[in-house]
Amino acid sequence: MRVLVTGGAGFIGSQIVQALGSAGHEAVVFDALLPSAHPAGAHRPPAQGLTVGDLRDREAVAGALAGIDAVCHQAAMVGLGKDFADAPEYVGLNDLGTAVLLAEMASAGVRDLVLAGSMVVYGEGRYDCARHGTVRPGPRAADDLRAGRFEPRCPSCGAELSPGLVTEDAPADPRNVYAATKLAQEHLASAWARATGGRAISLRYHNVYGPGMPRDTPYAGVASFFRSALARGQSPRVFEDGAQRRDFVHVRDVAAANTVALTALAEREPGAFTAYNTGSGEPHTIGEMASALASAHQGPAPVVTGEYRLGDVRHVTADSRRLRDELGWKPEVGFAEGMAEFATARLRAGAAGE
Ligand SMILES: NC(=O)c1ccc[n+]([C@@H]2O[C@H](COP(=O)([O-])OP(=O)(O)OC[C@H]3O[C@@H](n4cnc5c(N)ncnc54)[C@H](O)[C@@H]3O)[C@@H](O)[C@H]2O)c1
Ligand SMILES: [Zn+2]
Repeated sequence: MRVLVTGGAGFIGSQIVQALGSAGHEAVVFDALLPSAHPAGAHRPPAQGLTVGDLRDREAVAGALAGIDAVCHQAAMVGLGKDFADAPEYVGLNDLGTAVLLAEMASAGVRDLVLAGSMVVYGEGRYDCARHGTVRPGPRAADDLRAGRFEPRCPSCGAELSPGLVTEDAPADPRNVYAATKLAQEHLASAWARATGGRAISLRYHNVYGPGMPRDTPYAGVASFFRSALARGQSPRVFEDGAQRRDFVHVRDVAAANTVALTALAEREPGAFTAYNTGSGEPHTIGEMASALASAHQGPAPVVTGEYRLGDVRHVTADSRRLRDELGWKPEVGFAEGMAEFATARLRAGAAGE
């Protein structure tokens, strides 16, 4: 299969290119090499068959789709960004970019799409109240966060909640601009599949980590902040109280999920769109992750700062059974092993201390 990997010069995309190659497929990369992901002076990532272009450029996309059997769409501006002023850029790159890609796929008759989805579409994860069953707490109030009240409460009775695993059927509730653009990508992919007889799978990645992760910019993930601090000889700074639960999934496992999803599309009905949680199935707290990295790096212990970011959710962890059951994927890299490797692995060029 000849696969166009958008964002194929990025952290996850470049691992997908490798995985596709190992599975006997041919990967072609289309990437804008955004400065937020590829800082000036960083070496250009060695991506095979790289076309440098922006998805919003119809002609460039049409050219890149020639002879392509399927698209693996990883390109996006990621992270929380600096402030709301970034919103037009997120929407342009992620949603207009996706719309142009899908329109050009329709013209070129390319029918198979795997999309890099995200767990951010859920907002908060699943919570259960002893009295009210499964409930959906809204965004946390700034006053609560300031006062160190980090746990969301039952919207009906105010009781403490127990966090659980979110399934793909949970309602969407994007809490920031990036999350809204990731949800819109799914809606666009689903509309495209229905309108053109295409087949689409969205892999809703949880917190992806591993070698080649970008350095600590406002666009990076928390594992990269901690890893970059350790590289500078500093303590990882853990926000809130460190008890936030996440599902850390290794980038090689995510790449493998993309390969199985691309293969599975051939069996799907035209018009089908399916979302799959893509997580390790092993929830850990942010504090545990910081400690695992610090001790494997033999660096200073983490510091819990009580700081917070308004767009952050408290807990979000996935039930990834659908991906295991329907596509036969299973994660291979365990938490301890993956974090030990990541503690000393290279970050994306340009990172402090690298
Ligand atoms: N890293 C995570 O934890 C995580 C979690 C959930 C979802 N995702 C999704 O996975 C995908 C890959 O993320 P990543 O972590 O590898 O980020 P990354 O920044 O390393 O890679 C994204 C790549 O896309 C390119 N790009 C962005 N917009 C583009 C456009 N309009 N046209 C062409 N190229 C463009 C960038 O230059 C970059 O190389 C994204 O869609 C992201 O939303 C990532
Ligand atoms: Zn209640």
